[in-house]
Amino acid sequence: MSAYAAATGTADLEPGPGACATAVRPLVEFRGLGVTYPGGVTAIRDFDLAVGAGEFVVILGPSGCGKSTVLQVVAGLLRPTAGQVEVGGRINPPPGKDRGFVFQHAGLLPWFDIFTNIEIGLRAKGLSKKAARAVSQHYVSAMGLDGFGHRYPYQLSGGMQQRVGVARAFAIDPPILLMDEPFAALDAQTRLLLQQELLRQWEGSGKTIIFVTHSIEEAVLLADRVVVMARSPGSVKTAVTITLPRPRNEATRLHPEYLRLFETLWDMIRLDAQRAIAEPEIREPS
Ligand SMILES: Nc1ncnc2c1ncn2[C@@H]1O[C@H](COP(=O)(O)OP(=O)(O)OP(=O)(O)O)[C@@H](O)[C@H]1O
Ligand SMILES: [Mg+2]
Repeated sequence: MSAYAAATGTADLEPGPGACATAVRPLVEFRGLGVTYPGGVTAIRDFDLAVGAGEFVVILGPSGCGKSTVLQVVAGLLRPTAGQVEVGGRINPPPGKDRGFVFQHAGLLPWFDIFTNIEIGLRAKGLSKKAARAVSQHYVSAMGLDGFGHRYPYQLSGGMQQRVGVARAFAIDPPILLMDEPFAALDAQTRLLLQQELLRQWEGSGKTIIFVTHSIEEAVLLADRVVVMARSPGSVKTAVTITLPRPRNEATRLHPEYLRLFETLWDMIRLDAQRAIAEPEIREPS
């Protein structure tokens, strides 16, 4: 019996495409997840995926395939209409401090300065004002925002605001980080810099990251494993282990394996991406 089978109780079965790459009990596990929205749109059906502790999983798929829906279920912001997600041994848990969420748009509170935006979650965790300031100062610095702590969000560029969003999520030090296209709205150069910064922050941190993107380049650069979603409705189509060496940086994009993986993944999603343009959403028959 494989270690995976022993750990998951799936004695005679080979792990499926969404199976956890590590041979330990998954930290996040989706089992037969389904989400049908009140208007009748089935965003997710039979979604199975196991994510190991410390793993960096990227969910890749065309627009409308249900990526954000999956992430919102893990975050506890949305309840499944079928199946379940288990997070750290709890089934369909409500939002909690064990999970940090980085949205596509930073979502900062405009009436607070940058330090305070980062410290809100820390104060809610019970840290004193002084301790919270020490942590926020550390992350402001780590994100290259020295000197901006007392500015307000409107005084920062979009890229800087997004860095505050990432800093805020890291500052509360959750074991699980959920990131929904956090860099999608940024210009290409800022995006590259923030990808590097994210990798620097994550490597050696032991954190588990589930990162959503529709960018194949981003997926290959960041992931331990890329989970490709099929649409109509959303489910796991396949998972590809990214064997590129770490630490990764700009030079990684020149690695022959990078190009090979890019082509493999593009071949997998090409058809769905074309369909996503032609038929934006799938409805249950009424
Ligand atoms: N609140 C909602 N009510 C009804 N339908 C919804 C809702 N949110 C999403 N959907 C539908 O569910 C499907 C999946 O949406 P979702 O936002 O999860 O996709 P996505 O993969 O994140 O897309 P994108 O890459 O464009 O962000 C889509 O067909 C969408 O129209
Ligand atoms: Mg989305």
